[in-house]
Amino acid sequence: MKKKTKPRGLRELADLAAQARLAAHAPFSRFKVGAALRTRTGEVVTGCNVENASYGLTMCAERVAVFKAVSEGLKDFDAVAVVADAPRLTAPCGACRQILWEFGGDIWVHIVDLQGRARTVKMSELLPLPFDARNL
Ligand code: THU
Repeated sequence: MKKKTKPRGLRELADLAAQARLAAHAPFSRFKVGAALRTRTGEVVTGCNVENASYGLTMCAERVAVFKAVSEGLKDFDAVAVVADAPRLTAPCGACRQILWEFGGDIWVHIVDLQGRARTVKMSELLPLPFDARNL
């Protein structure tokens, strides 16, 4: 079987995620995250984490990007870049994996830090045996 090649433009997508990260509202954790979601037709929608004094209401950068996109009629994604600044690369949390799967399925996930370390994985590596519409 032919090995699937990584899509082009992930570096640019990470740059957009890094820019979105600057808008993060993270006064409680001080952990700022940016995400950039790309559709199959090339549009990019970004998001940042938005925290709240009622901690549980916090929304992750990835879900902000997905909900922004879906609310504007964009649903067919092919890649997401996530940028954070931490000793280890930040992959989407469990809740975000489920939401990303709902709209993108097995898309590319490009995780990057501010030092330029990067790793690219498929959603199916992060969420094996997913629960989705096919289960219902
Ligand atoms: N966070 C994200 O935005 N995305 C992730 O994938 C991991 C966690 C945010 C939520 C919270 O504002 C802060 O990072 C610390 O958990």
